[in-house]
Amino acid sequence: MSELNLILLGPPGAGKGTQAERLTDDFNLPYIATGNILRAAVQEGTELGRQAQGFMTAGELVPDEVIIGVILEAVEGPAARDGFLLDGFPRSTGQADALGEGLERLERRLTAALLIDVPDEDVVRRLSGRRVSVKTGRVYHVEFDPPKHEGRCDVDGSRLVQRDDDKPETVRHRLEVYRTSTLPLVAYYEERGSLRRFDGTRSPTEVHDHIRATIATLRLEDEL
Ligand code: AP5
Repeated sequence: MSELNLILLGPPGAGKGTQAERLTDDFNLPYIATGNILRAAVQEGTELGRQAQGFMTAGELVPDEVIIGVILEAVEGPAARDGFLLDGFPRSTGQADALGEGLERLERRLTAALLIDVPDEDVVRRLSGRRVSVKTGRVYHVEFDPPKHEGRCDVDGSRLVQRDDDKPETVRHRLEVYRTSTLPLVAYYEERGSLRRFDGTRSPTEVHDHIRATIATLRLEDEL
């Protein structure tokens, strides 16, 4: 079976985490989400968390020298030997170059960059209604994907909270940062023939069906 080395691209709130949860189940891929790694580090009070916290709360990118080593270590580690799903990395051309070089060292290549696109007005609405379980990390939306019992996770009943960086003014700044630093990666991966686009305004199930079918086709093409 050919390996799947995938990255998820898209603005904040595009639904990357929502889709990742489904895709890792479908394809049994290790899920490497920079945002989750960094938030866990902040909560545990590690050196990484200490370096990242201020940038995250302000909606800024954590500097490349803080994040690149951490993510390459995960990509090059034994758990990701047969493939990976990266969410939130790369977010700048410097990070994309570092990932490309890391894969080259391992004689591997990127299977695809999966871009989930949504307009700014959807982003603000989605992030202001997002709630996350403090224990399981499962993501909900008060309107689009509500839990069965208000404020409680369906999985284990744990408390649902709003992320610090989901305040409207921080969301607007995150969108600016996305446009300046991350959007150039769309052209970057398009030029390399790796980009696949998905309409993120569709329902989570429709977006999922489309991405899953695309990955299945890519895998088939790779095996021919
Ligand atoms: P990170 O956690 O990666 O945040 P992000 O990229 O801004 O993405 P989000 O998690 O906000 O959104 P998502 O696309 O996963 O959407 P979700 O599925 O939750 O990064 C946070 C911070 O960490 C950064 O700001 C930065 O400081 C730092 N950082 C991370 N990586 C870094 C890097 N590489 N370099 C430097 N710094 C880095 O969905 C959102 C909501 O919409 C949910 O409520 C969901 O239920 C709902 N929803 C999802 N899909 C749909 C749909 N189709 N229709 C309706 N609602 C939907």
